[in-house]
Amino acid sequence: METIEQYLPREVRVGVIGVGLMGADHVARLASRIKGARVSVVTDYLREKAQEMADGVPGCRVVDTAEELIAAKDVDAVLIASPGTFHRDQAIACIAARKPVLCEKPLAMNPEDAYAVVQAEAEAQKATGRRFVSVGFMRRFDAEYAELKDAIDSGELGQVSVINCKHRNATTHPGFVDSMMVYDSAVHEIDAIHYFLDEAITEVQAVLPLPGPRAAEGQHDPMLLLLRTSSGRIVTDELYVNTDSGYEVRTEVLGSAGIATIGMGITRVTTQMAGGTWGGTVPFDYRPRFAAAYDAEVQAWITAVLDGSNIALRSATAWDGYLAAATCEAAEQALTTPGFVPVTARPRP
Ligand SMILES: NC(=O)c1ccc[n+]([C@@H]2O[C@H](COP(=O)([O-])OP(=O)(O)OC[C@H]3O[C@@H](n4cnc5c(N)ncnc54)[C@H](O)[C@@H]3O)[C@@H](O)[C@H]2O)c1
Repeated sequence: METIEQYLPREVRVGVIGVGLMGADHVARLASRIKGARVSVVTDYLREKAQEMADGVPGCRVVDTAEELIAAKDVDAVLIASPGTFHRDQAIACIAARKPVLCEKPLAMNPEDAYAVVQAEAEAQKATGRRFVSVGFMRRFDAEYAELKDAIDSGELGQVSVINCKHRNATTHPGFVDSMMVYDSAVHEIDAIHYFLDEAITEVQAVLPLPGPRAAEGQHDPMLLLLRTSSGRIVTDELYVNTDSGYEVRTEVLGSAGIATIGMGITRVTTQMAGGTWGGTVPFDYRPRFAAAYDAEVQAWITAVLDGSNIALRSATAWDGYLAAATCEAAEQALTTPGFVPVTARPRP
């Protein structure tokens, strides 16, 4: 049996794979606000991008590939922020190297790949007694989400029957097709529902309105997903990713004893009246809304790595990542199938 002490670092030297928008944001927080960690190695498909990043972080070096980074002696734990299609192989390599990994969502772009990570971790757990994979569903670390979960769990809202979610982006990059609206955007609400209700989503239906003015050719934007959970609760998820208006994520829970709404932040900021208009501003960027949640998520991960548990209590696990992918698969099928499509999940290893 391998021992925990064999792996415990005093300061976590983090390797970051992919320094695009999200990866660069994580490097910045690890290098400044997160305690007990530093960024030791970065890599990116575009080497010059990685070099530029490393130049701004004392003691940080660049390697050419994710494989090299995962194997590096000066990397204790890995943060994956490459595109979703690479997550499976990179996460499995981290497990094989017995290095804790915080993998950005989604865990994978299909359930088979996500399940392969779950299986690899289960085998590693047999050998070491430890798990290795956290998935970056940072909303679990958001203060408003935590309050809403408390209100549901404590019974304060009574019997919950409906949850309405809205996920709006100002704009997306070219090539953001329907499958990305499901696996990259809706996946957040799907995990949040699992987190809030502790029950499975069993079926999904897609309702497709007329495309908005900025939808790409063939893209269903806006898109409405209807989800039913194992106890018969209904969830609506309205996705509209090219609003040209701003970033907005809202959740409304209808219970027998009350209705709770989170994500109304844009109406809570100071409003101004000037020049014949009244109102405030809405950020285009998604990062400010969840900045504190990202910090809390990464800090909780580092603390878990330092104490040997590897995965923070509130964090999404590989299994959560798999359940989300299985639900996304049903949602993707629902885009071209009338009625509800069942979610089929394999047994937990
Ligand atoms: N948690 C969240 O709210 C949130 C928000 C945005 C993005 N994300 C996730 O973060 C990940 C990255 O998204 P992004 O918006 O930063 O994308 P991005 O395109 O801005 O950055 C991805 C980076 O990875 C690099 N890359 C591509 N293939 C690579 C490989 N094989 N190895 C190493 N680097 C590689 C690219 O060159 C690029 O710099 C995605 O999984 C995305 O879903 C999560």
